[in-house]
Amino acid sequence: ESIPVITIDGPTASGKGTLAAAVAARLGWHQLDSGMLYRATALAAMRQGVDAGDEAALARVASSLQLRFDGERVLLEGADVATELRFEAVGAMASKIAALPAVRSALNALQLSFRKLPGLVADGRDMGTVIFPAAPLKVFLTASPAQRAERRHKQLISKGISASIADLWADLEARDARDKNRSVAPLKPAEDALLLDNSGLTIDQSVDRVLAWWAERN
Ligand code: C5P
Repeated sequence: ESIPVITIDGPTASGKGTLAAAVAARLGWHQLDSGMLYRATALAAMRQGVDAGDEAALARVASSLQLRFDGERVLLEGADVATELRFEAVGAMASKIAALPAVRSALNALQLSFRKLPGLVADGRDMGTVIFPAAPLKVFLTASPAQRAERRHKQLISKGISASIADLWADLEARDARDKNRSVAPLKPAEDALLLDNSGLTIDQSVDRVLAWWAERN
């Protein structure tokens, strides 16, 4: 319980991952990108031909996930899948299976295992509400839909994946709606979360904001 955790939750493409990585680097802490675990489960399920509606089979895939992180590489059963995990089809499948309670609980222990000294920065949808409810600092990050669609577009282009902004926008809205309206662990700020709208901010400004909040708690 004495290992500190900073949670950063928010909608798709709000900049959570970038912010979490930068805050973790500045503090010298570990990082958990929880969306990656849902994406990896989705990818493994797609590869095994598991049906998106077969909750029990999907939960088995989640609990037997052979995942390792090695710098920029994400190894699924030994092979680097970092690029594939970012594919829109994988994200869309992740968003669907993330609504299934058995899949979510199958990933609980794995998520908790990332909490190690000297501290953890965890980003996702339910880090502050469900997985680390006692975290001393919880941030809920938002950004305008236009900015989010544009960021996601740039992110994909930089990885050599093409996509239209209009399609991305529609996809973001569908995913947010699913995340907010599901019955288990819906996307919402924890009661004690601090809200950060990064629309007009640079990454450094957002990082400084979070670090200042952290400093105030110590
Ligand atoms: O954050 P990212 O977009 O990579 O996550 C992929 C999907 O996994 C999201 O669309 C969301 O539905 C789901 N997710 C979740 N809970 C988390 C992290 C991600 O439901 N803590």
